[in-house]
Amino acid sequence: MIALCDIISNEKMTEEYNIYSMIIDAPLIAKIAKPGQFVHVKCGGLTLRRPISIASAKNGQIKICYDVRGEGTKWLSGLKSGGKIDINGPIGKGFDVSDTSKKVLLAGGGIGIYPLYSVAEAYGENAFAVLGFRTKDIITFEKEFKECGSKLYIATDDGSYGRKGFAIDTVKEILDNNKIDIIMTCGPKIMMKGIALEAQKRNIRCQVSMEERMACGIGACLACVCKIKDANVGDGVLDVPFTNKRVCIDGPVFDIFDGSGVDWEW
Ligand code: FES
Repeated sequence: MIALCDIISNEKMTEEYNIYSMIIDAPLIAKIAKPGQFVHVKCGGLTLRRPISIASAKNGQIKICYDVRGEGTKWLSGLKSGGKIDINGPIGKGFDVSDTSKKVLLAGGGIGIYPLYSVAEAYGENAFAVLGFRTKDIITFEKEFKECGSKLYIATDDGSYGRKGFAIDTVKEILDNNKIDIIMTCGPKIMMKGIALEAQKRNIRCQVSMEERMACGIGACLACVCKIKDANVGDGVLDVPFTNKRVCIDGPVFDIFDGSGVDWEW
């Protein structure tokens, strides 16, 4: 649904980097949003809306977090509390939170941590969360993940905070020492590929949240196509060909059977 909503707040979360968190009064969207879905946001006079994942949805409000990367997000960063924003959503297929008694391992990198936050809220202490960042100054949502009860691990590439190294190193360590039922990941492709392959090796179900450039956001233009092997086709999947999937409405979250379930080179 498209709605013109009130902005409650729009704040920069880090000193050094332009990452913002916006809270929007959107009762109808908040009521039906599922973890991993996104909203398509109209940015000033730009023709194309921008897809931004929903970090949380409760009490009639949604929170979206974004990195200022271009004209659209720069315009967004200038909006103030009390202003209005035109959003369409919630859109897409999200993560599976149908059985939160299972143990989930969440692996997020950079701004890919935000859609995982509402999954962590749903799973509570049954969630292990591994958040990877380039460096200390870009870390956000540490307190939020801790407060929802998840076992939190932070890794930085340069070792300036938490564990030194990539998220995948910590993911492997957790998998070595715990029985995990499902892995969910969102972040850079290279990170998700490594995690999906690890899931395949250990025969653990894996959901990946894909990111592609979008235009229409309603499944019509095919701008956002990625190549996926559908976990629900065939038995064993390895011999099933890749098929085109639209990230906007077939995803962004895909349930892949094994590490080769995504054409990572596409
Ligand atoms: Fe148009 Fe996905 S953005 S089909």
